[in-house]
Amino acid sequence: MGKFIGGIIIGVLALAGGVYAYLHYGLFDMRADRPNGRLEMAYMNDAMDRYAGRHAPKVRNPLPLTDATLIGGIAVYKSNCAGCHGGPDMPESALGAGFNPPAPQFVKDAPDMPENQNYWIIRHGVKMTGMPAWEKVLAESDIWKVTTFVGRMGELDKLSPAVQQAWKGSPAVAAPPASAEPAPGSEAAPRPAPTPEQRRGH
Ligand code: HEC
Repeated sequence: MGKFIGGIIIGVLALAGGVYAYLHYGLFDMRADRPNGRLEMAYMNDAMDRYAGRHAPKVRNPLPLTDATLIGGIAVYKSNCAGCHGGPDMPESALGAGFNPPAPQFVKDAPDMPENQNYWIIRHGVKMTGMPAWEKVLAESDIWKVTTFVGRMGELDKLSPAVQQAWKGSPAVAAPPASAEPAPGSEAAPRPAPTPEQRRGH
């Protein structure tokens, strides 16, 4: 029994030493444009889902499900999220694909987690990925607006014509201010609407 436990301890130490050496000597491939090991992917995806499932508080969306909420969410989404997760004129974001893990492309593959989990992820971000924590960037009400909207991206064609128009229309037309207050010292001048070339990403 003593030998058995000793063997386990030595085994665990050897494994920990091996992992340490692997990282310490720069053997672990950190390039974003290389595929990940299957083990790595399985572990991390699962860990993220399980973490959100376990920790996201069972909060209810405080906003009513109205066109105004959804259109507000679209404005927040277009200014802050579409660059990575895709928008109406760029259903697949090349920038988002450059992250590892890649940013999920919501136009084609809408988030299907419960709303409280989307809210939690948007608020806190996802460690060691490109997904930022938005709690210090967006007003609480804007986080809820965009949470409401992304949860309905899978059924865009069922939303009201006004909402669909806001989604398809140009960013400048759709956008009431995305955040409650501008950061101190931020530019007050509105950005000019992008030309069609710019919007297509050329
Ligand atoms: C700089 C790029 C970037 C921006 C900007 C960004 N995200 Fe993300 N987001 C990511 C990446 C990368 C992931 C994948 C993280 C992972 O694999 O766990 C992600 C994951 C998510 C998820 C979890 C999706 C799922 O099904 O697992 C949600 C929800 C989300 N983002 C919402 C948003 C919202 C809303 C915004 C805007 C307020 C936003 N993101 C802005 C890069 C970004």
